[in-house]
Amino acid sequence: MCGIVAYVGHREACSIIIKGLKRLEYRGYDSAGVALMNGDLNVYKKKGKVSKLENYLTDKDTHGNIGMGHTRWATHGEPNDRNAHPHYSSSGKLAIIHNGIIENYATLKTLLIEKGHTFQSDTDSEVFINLIEDIKINSKCTLVEAVRLALHEVVGAYAIVVLSKDDPNQLVAARKGSPLVVGIGEGEHFLASDATPIIEYTSDVVYINDQEIVVIKDGELDIRSKEDVKQTPYIQRLELALESIEKGGYEHFMLKEIFEQPRSILDCLRGRMIPEKGHLMMSGFFEYENKFAKANRILIVACGTSYHAGLVAEYLIEDLARVPVEVEYASEFRYRNPIINENDIVIAISQSGETADTLAAIELAKSKGATIFGICNVVGSSIARATDAGAYTHAGPEIGVASTKAFTAQVTVLTLIAMIMGRRRGTIETTKLNQLMVELESIPGKVEQALQLDEQIQKISAVFKDASSFLYLGRGYNFPVALEGALKLKEISYIHAEGYPAAEMKHGPIALIDEHMPVVVIATKDSSYEKIVSNVQEVRARKGKVIAVVTEGDNVIPSMADYVVEVPETNEHLMPLLSVIPLQLLSYHIAVMRGCNVDQPRNLAKSVTVE
Ligand code: F6R
Repeated sequence: MCGIVAYVGHREACSIIIKGLKRLEYRGYDSAGVALMNGDLNVYKKKGKVSKLENYLTDKDTHGNIGMGHTRWATHGEPNDRNAHPHYSSSGKLAIIHNGIIENYATLKTLLIEKGHTFQSDTDSEVFINLIEDIKINSKCTLVEAVRLALHEVVGAYAIVVLSKDDPNQLVAARKGSPLVVGIGEGEHFLASDATPIIEYTSDVVYINDQEIVVIKDGELDIRSKEDVKQTPYIQRLELALESIEKGGYEHFMLKEIFEQPRSILDCLRGRMIPEKGHLMMSGFFEYENKFAKANRILIVACGTSYHAGLVAEYLIEDLARVPVEVEYASEFRYRNPIINENDIVIAISQSGETADTLAAIELAKSKGATIFGICNVVGSSIARATDAGAYTHAGPEIGVASTKAFTAQVTVLTLIAMIMGRRRGTIETTKLNQLMVELESIPGKVEQALQLDEQIQKISAVFKDASSFLYLGRGYNFPVALEGALKLKEISYIHAEGYPAAEMKHGPIALIDEHMPVVVIATKDSSYEKIVSNVQEVRARKGKVIAVVTEGDNVIPSMADYVVEVPETNEHLMPLLSVIPLQLLSYHIAVMRGCNVDQPRNLAKSVTVE
């Protein structure tokens, strides 16, 4: 949710910033802007994508070795040039870029207007920079001190960078609730929302903690707490390959990421499971095995696709480990006074590791004494750091806004957890566990096979690309997959879609079915197969168009469905890892055929750092 980049060093700042903003565009693409220090403090900004800003800059003087840039996902104020970042302070001497939300901005703005500050935009960020300026003038203090004092007055979330005309060689930054990474190069420093703009220049990074202030000046990095106590930077080495954040010949990141799944699932399993040796162990989980095994219940909190992975885990853990599981949207959990205590285990699932609602749900559960286990994809992310323990999904950077490989990696980690818990609790027989391990090991190969459906799915997509609504139905393990299929379609193709448990259809949605309604039924061979056969018949009887995802070799449902795609056979516990693949491809191709921006769908951002 908004991407920020800043640079100070010996190179031209502008090109580094623009390149970095393109990498961060997945975080928002409503507008983009840069502030460059070259004699003066110049701000250039434009509504739209970073490429628009780049064109706009062609006839501008963009020289200078220090600067900052922003790509916006609008919160306060519509997306236009005026509301784009950076924002000047009233005097024009300071400029800010900001990712996050200042909740008390209205009160602050009223006070600042009374004091004579003027505003050009509708944003909370412009209030922030005027507050800093106001403190600087009235307290006659340095910029760094003014930023520090301002942090005590703002309520909300932020990652900010501030430049000052009076201190042309200095970058000041701070964070609370929104991510910020410093890259340390040879005589140069980078600041960014994540490491992708930094990776090609240096692998040495420092993840800034909440409530810390960063000052970079004369080649020195200084980090202080909000209370002005000097902090020792913890320098980490990035293990991110440049190729992993590029498209590698695919038309879109989403397609690349769909096709990466055999590899990402394998990477997720690597070192954690060797069936022939009976090895089943996740290092992050090992210490907590006992605690999980003794848990009276497990709570799972997450949002969006990660929530759907949580729903799959509910089936897995309850079935294999016989422990009650409750799955809840983090946004609901955090505001409903839930009953949690120190005996509870909360699993928080998040690809980005930055989702504000999930982070807040973690803080709430922590305050009640629960043990928090995180499942994140982004290493060093806020959620990864806020949890007691956790497991990374190792899916590699997911850049397409629609989550694909992160989902299958999350489900893989959750499957491992359910299996380990079942073994520890003695609720799964050794033979069954061994079979499941062998089957799980074969999943990357089976995903590869499922990906070969691509051409067939393109043809089906061409038939239904103009539909105005879709229904997705599934039962058991495939119910969360139905939800996920519907979410994928609506977010990237803007077609209305609903996922439903197949049997619930007759309690309402069946009224929608007529000859124009495509109904995607995930009807693989599992314990509820017979039941879903009846549901398919119910759809057919209302003339709905059935697109069925079935297990290879099925000859019952194909005789009833209009279109059939076959996925390889597997154990029902693992089926979501396969049955979701055709649904990802279907949404991708329909979106492409409708001319939609697949990687950057309208109104969305990859990392939702506002509630
Ligand atoms: C859907 C999607 C979103 C995210 C949700 C949670 O394709 O990407 O629904 O799943 O915003 O994000 P994370 O997993 O980063 O917490």
